[in-house]
Amino acid sequence: MLVRWVAVFASAAIAIAAPDITLFEDLLSALTVMQDAYFANWIGSWPEGNDWTRAVTGTYVAGALKTISQDMESVRNYTTTQLWPSYENILSRHFEELIGYYFGQDAFGIRNEAYDDMLWVVLGWLETIQYIDQQSEESGSIKEWHGRRWVPAFAHRARVFWELASRGWDQKYCGGGMIWNPRLLPYKNAITNELFIAASISMYHYFPGDDNPSPWNQAVEFDRDNRGKWPPRDPKFWNAAQTGYKWLQSSGMMNNEGLYTDGFHISGISEGSDNTKCDKRDDMLYTYNQGVILTGQLGLFKTTGDLKYLEDGHKLVRDVIKATGWDLRRQQPVDDLSKLKPGQLPPWQGLGRGGILEEACDISGECSQDGQTFKGIWMHHFTAFCEPKSLDVLSPRTIEHLGHYNARKARASHYGKCERYVPWLRHNAKAAMGTRDSHGKYGMWWTVGLINITMPNLVFDAPGILPPDLGKDDYRNRGVPMNNRTWVGIIMPNSTTEEEETRLSLFRGQGHRPQRFIYDRYDGDTRALKSRDGLSDETTRSDPNSRGRGRTGETQGGALALLRALWTLSKYGRVDT
Ligand SMILES: *[C@@H]1O[C@H](CO)[C@@H](O)[C@H](O)[C@H]1NC(C)=O
Ligand SMILES: *[C@@H]1O[C@H](CO)[C@@H](O)[C@H](O)[C@H]1NC(C)=O
Ligand SMILES: *[C@@H]1O[C@H](CO)[C@@H](O)[C@H](O)[C@H]1NC(C)=O
Ligand SMILES: *[C@@H]1O[C@H](CO)[C@@H](O)[C@H](O)[C@H]1NC(C)=O
Repeated sequence: MLVRWVAVFASAAIAIAAPDITLFEDLLSALTVMQDAYFANWIGSWPEGNDWTRAVTGTYVAGALKTISQDMESVRNYTTTQLWPSYENILSRHFEELIGYYFGQDAFGIRNEAYDDMLWVVLGWLETIQYIDQQSEESGSIKEWHGRRWVPAFAHRARVFWELASRGWDQKYCGGGMIWNPRLLPYKNAITNELFIAASISMYHYFPGDDNPSPWNQAVEFDRDNRGKWPPRDPKFWNAAQTGYKWLQSSGMMNNEGLYTDGFHISGISEGSDNTKCDKRDDMLYTYNQGVILTGQLGLFKTTGDLKYLEDGHKLVRDVIKATGWDLRRQQPVDDLSKLKPGQLPPWQGLGRGGILEEACDISGECSQDGQTFKGIWMHHFTAFCEPKSLDVLSPRTIEHLGHYNARKARASHYGKCERYVPWLRHNAKAAMGTRDSHGKYGMWWTVGLINITMPNLVFDAPGILPPDLGKDDYRNRGVPMNNRTWVGIIMPNSTTEEEETRLSLFRGQGHRPQRFIYDRYDGDTRALKSRDGLSDETTRSDPNSRGRGRTGETQGGALALLRALWTLSKYGRVDT
């Protein structure tokens, strides 16, 4: 059992003055729709997802359960109606789905995928363990809640995948850092490194230990020091996170606007050069590259007490908000949205427009399964960074390092900064809500939920509207160009591998292109995909969110993560601290 850090501050008495019950209902309904529409019990999975987007979806479910479990009592106290659903029923339903997914997850396949794919798995099961901890507390007894029986299984999966992924750390190129994908030429990208930092510090915090040596029965050999047991709070996780952070900060991956670009190639490798320097940057901006690191920064601060981590995190959040075109000082968009004519968009600002977070692929409807997942990831990690209890529990080291007075001051300052992000979050949630269709499904492109854009009246060709980097080196939405020597050593044939074909053929014939981007051809044909929303032709044709892949489990997950962020942070201002 994990030795818990003592809460050094009385846990903020969450005395909610007036919770926004409608928002809570919207959160529940986003979760229900996601699971009703996109989860299939018989295979314990979201069949239309891919391995990594499923892992992220599972993480959202666990996060939502944590929130519901934590807040259901206070919500119940503020509702008079007897018609409220049974929260226990909601919680146990979705917890069962997560157990189903434990078996439905292709743990064998993911071992042969990229290192970032493995790390989403780690974060997902650690999130589920946090829910179990939370629920056990709500149940009044850590020992009694039946869900605890699953902790060893989930911890084992997290530990195995952390170890597999940690083999991606490489000293030969760029002085360190994680490699993205062992089957491509070395590419050191932001996401894999942020994930390694976030997953490592989260292992340090939430991994409760493991004594299951499978699948290496020679475990004693494998990890001699631990004699086949993996203890909690192993300093190796903390060290890995710190080393990763130090490397990422010095890598030059951040651009002049304070945002993480995608990553570095090493030039000349395919021509036999012995260059080992990260010297060819892919400047493409994706929202998720600005998000995952926030979990790392919070965790590293809680562990070390070094204020730099918190400062870096808040600066990144401010730079992201700025890049959506939002003025934090005046708490409004920099552009006057009321002046827009139908079909007209405010200008692109780097990661959005009109104060709304947007992916570069949104405007053309060309987002892949990957691109559809990114904004939700940002929201999930932002929630972890800023939730109103995020700094209630600190390590003894942190208290010693800062002293009680300064630790309290750091905590208050952190919460104060987080509170200032709420109006921006509300603005984004309002936009996302406007993309809901009659089945309660959310669209990908939140912006058009607030700005009157219908097809085909969308004005693409006004100056400043299209992201300048649209399509440029956008391997996440267009697939890795397998005929390009910057990326691959051996040019791959067009078709997917036989093994992939077999696996994916299960879900074919549903008017839906199976997507494993790494084997996809670089043909950018996502635009041709037909909407599967089942709406009338008229509505579908005019709805920008019916283009491309349309509404999917990934877009639903994005909205769920956003609503949870707003619900969680909107406790600021209602909290007595
Ligand atoms: C809910 O109401 C009960 C009974 O009045 C009270 O004991 C409890 O503290 C309240 N819980 C919250 C979270 O407000
Ligand atoms: C949105 O624009 C369409 C024309 O493109 C117009 O018919 C409709 O009334 C507008 N809706 C609002 C709420 O302004
Ligand atoms: C190959 O990929 C690199 C990096 O994404 C890009 O800069 C370059 O233009 C591509 N080359 C070709 C021929 O498409
Ligand atoms: C890949 O597809 C293109 C266009 O369909 C074709 O011209 C080319 O020969 C194919 N390459 C291989 C290696 O099969």
